[in-house]
Amino acid sequence: MSRYRINGGRRLSGRVTISGSKNAALGVLAAAMAVDGPSVIENVPRVSDIDILLDIFALLGAKVEWQSHDTVRIDPTTVSNHEAMMEEVHQLRGSYYLLGAFLGRFGRVRQLLPGGCDFGSRPIDLHLKGFAALGASEQQISDGVIDLQCPQRLKGASIFLNVVSVGATINIMLAAVHAEGVTVIDNAAKEPHIVDVANFLNAMGAEVRGAGTDVIKITGRPVLPANKTYAIIPDQIEAGTFMMMAPLTRGDITVENLIPTHMEPLSNKLIDMGCLVEEGDDSIRVALMEHDKLTATTFRTMPYPGYPTDLQPQTVALLCAAEGSGRVIENVWENRFQYIDDLKLMGANIMTSGRLAIIQGGLRLQGAKVPCRDLRAGAAMVMAALAAEGETIVEGIETIQRGYENFVPKLRGLGAEIEEIEA
Ligand code: EPZ
Repeated sequence: MSRYRINGGRRLSGRVTISGSKNAALGVLAAAMAVDGPSVIENVPRVSDIDILLDIFALLGAKVEWQSHDTVRIDPTTVSNHEAMMEEVHQLRGSYYLLGAFLGRFGRVRQLLPGGCDFGSRPIDLHLKGFAALGASEQQISDGVIDLQCPQRLKGASIFLNVVSVGATINIMLAAVHAEGVTVIDNAAKEPHIVDVANFLNAMGAEVRGAGTDVIKITGRPVLPANKTYAIIPDQIEAGTFMMMAPLTRGDITVENLIPTHMEPLSNKLIDMGCLVEEGDDSIRVALMEHDKLTATTFRTMPYPGYPTDLQPQTVALLCAAEGSGRVIENVWENRFQYIDDLKLMGANIMTSGRLAIIQGGLRLQGAKVPCRDLRAGAAMVMAALAAEGETIVEGIETIQRGYENFVPKLRGLGAEIEEIEA
């Protein structure tokens, strides 16, 4: 187990370049397994969740070849096995996209249940409901294994998602591109990575319309020839994490290689809090000058275009530094406040009640030894440490490395005093 040792109190400034989106990459790479020819995918973040997913593909018989640091070629035509029973499947959430990809291609899939960050129950009932509507009515889940079968080719259907779900929307798209006829997903998720997966599928020969709106229409095709190159969008959550580090440390950071419209919910909050936010074509500068006041705010997490739940812990870390009382309502996950006890170890004054957290800001946090409870909670711990007085040890940083590429070099480039040490 490795740790970060961080000496807080340094003002961060300069430029940082954002990597490809981890959550878009998980969907796009799985989509590369759903098509019928090889594809080349650029701007892939080199984080451990992606490495594990690609290991699974290779174990299933796909040809996976890195052509450069961030470009991978995937040839799924050598895969004949619809069974993903290797332990790696259980190590990440994104492995559940193999369900849709294989069901569409082979009409059958058997795999271990996915793992991923723990913040309360993470059901997949909507994924299964979607697959059943497409004809995969034979479904068995027992002893941690999911087995889905469709006796004939999948058939297009109208599917209403009664909860907006990123995973279910992508998984149903992945299956429906091979179905006979038209599939309509109503109340679909609208996150940037949904649009990215749809764009990838279209580039490979599929017909997916309406991604980014509530209603997605997929006209199935028997064969998706692929044989194209596609670049993943920048990571909205990594970008947001770095944007917040500027006011947190009274710094001045230009975050490059992002899509400014994806950042609007956060940019607006930062302006409300008193920050300077300057948008470029593919960059955003965020600054808080020496004498400017950082004021507390209220936000509630919602599906896109609402405030992302994946920025919630980082925003709570920022609110600890703001003057006044901030309020956060977590609407997406039932139990995503576990890390708050760790912030309290650093001196934060936070009260929680169910899905509400009230943060009394304006206190200087103190260095401490803290764990990473999940990926974004881990990023929040690093942020708290950057603002804290003295030394903080952040333990279990493998969790952060699941989703943040080159975190330490990027932070050091901005002037942070952080190093990775062996436990
Ligand atoms: C994706 O998870 C992301 N993961 C999560 O990011 C992110 O927090 C989440 O979307 C919300 O934006 C990946 O993309 C790999 P959901 P996902 O299905 O797809 C309920 C990170 O830090 N629901 O949109 O698993 C569910 O309980 C990770 O990068 C059902 O009820 O999330 C939740 O309340 C963590 N039934 C809500 O929907 C279902 O079948 C949204 O979940 C599925 C979900």
